[in-house]
Amino acid sequence: MKILVTGGAGFIGSNFVFYMMEKHPDYDIVVLDKLTYAGNLETLESVMKNPHFKFVKADIADRDAVFDLFEQEKFDVVVNFAAESHVDRSIEDPGLFLTTNILGTQVLMDACRKYGIGRYHQVSTDEVYGDLPLDRTDLFFTEETPIHTSSPYSASKASADLLVQAYHRTFGLPVTISRCSNNYGPYHFPEKLIPLIISRALADESLPVYGTGENVRDWLYVEDHCAAINRILEDGREGEVYNIGGHNERTNLQVVKTILKQLGKPESLITFVTDRAGHDLRYAIDPAKMMNELGWQPTTTFDEGIRRTVEWYLDNESWWKSIISGDYQNYYERMYAER
Ligand code: NAD
Ligand code: TYD
Repeated sequence: MKILVTGGAGFIGSNFVFYMMEKHPDYDIVVLDKLTYAGNLETLESVMKNPHFKFVKADIADRDAVFDLFEQEKFDVVVNFAAESHVDRSIEDPGLFLTTNILGTQVLMDACRKYGIGRYHQVSTDEVYGDLPLDRTDLFFTEETPIHTSSPYSASKASADLLVQAYHRTFGLPVTISRCSNNYGPYHFPEKLIPLIISRALADESLPVYGTGENVRDWLYVEDHCAAINRILEDGREGEVYNIGGHNERTNLQVVKTILKQLGKPESLITFVTDRAGHDLRYAIDPAKMMNELGWQPTTTFDEGIRRTVEWYLDNESWWKSIISGDYQNYYERMYAER
């Protein structure tokens, strides 16, 4: 079995590589990654020398590079994690999101059509469903919830999903799509809420909370997401969408306070800043299909996951410090100076 993992030098992609190499040590895994600001080869250091692993630096939207790789490698399965993934950046520069997230998906699927493939899996997000009201805790996103996007990021991911479904219907491409809730865990880039709060709190810096901090996200430990994708590859039905989540809804303020408590840092570090434009209120996944059809269950509770994540950031300071000392510092200034 030879699997192409695109975006494997990023947060979830790298965790998926580690998960799959442990679960299926005989599989061959090729990571294709453009190494944007979010991709980090250091993350993959522990597998670089494994004879079942190979890294290729390329852009999923580069048709020649992608087709050349497919010609050489003859993949059985493609799992597409590669994406521009940060909502705030998509508000600043939507164009790049359309190129990578939509056109890149098209290029990958065209290569799958030309060279043949057992399965193309699209890693999507619950953000394609838009948001739910804060006062309707009885409502959840199911696979039948209409697509209704809020940000250029979610619009680009939804567009890619529609294209994946079109390639299934029109060309018979064997596809599956997963839509997961917010992930957290090791190797999470420190521009996203949880690692941003951990890294800034450790430096006793102010912690920017958008708006009132009452927005709700449904958090899943990254390894549980990886296990769910593995189950979809094994037994998921072609053409189907699977929602992934573990019923772990928390307000942003609750998340920040949990982290502060674990680090022994004061809540006075919290600073309320101008809200994100178009800020989605609440995400909440109904994972019944994953559970009933594929027998998947999340295994890590939020408390345990946060404890492990904070410990990981404490034990791996060099990983994230080298990131925030570089270009990311300019990003922080740009994004938060006026807030
Ligand atoms: P990330 O930003 O940490 O990693 C993205 C990776 O893709 C990086 O390694 C980057 O270098 C690479 N990449 C970007 N553009 C590329 C291109 N044009 N060609 C090749 N590689 C490119 O993102 P993540 O949080 O790991 O998310 C991975 C996927 O999971 C994305 O598709 C995202 O939409 C989806 N997702 C994320 C979450 C979450 O909470 N982080 C939740 C649900 C779904
Ligand atoms: P984020 O990690 O960017 O994920 P997403 O927007 O894709 O859900 O943000 C999670 C939540 O935290 C979201 O409601 C926005 C909020 N947030 C802050 O309050 N402050 C911040 O500095 C960041 C990055 C996010």
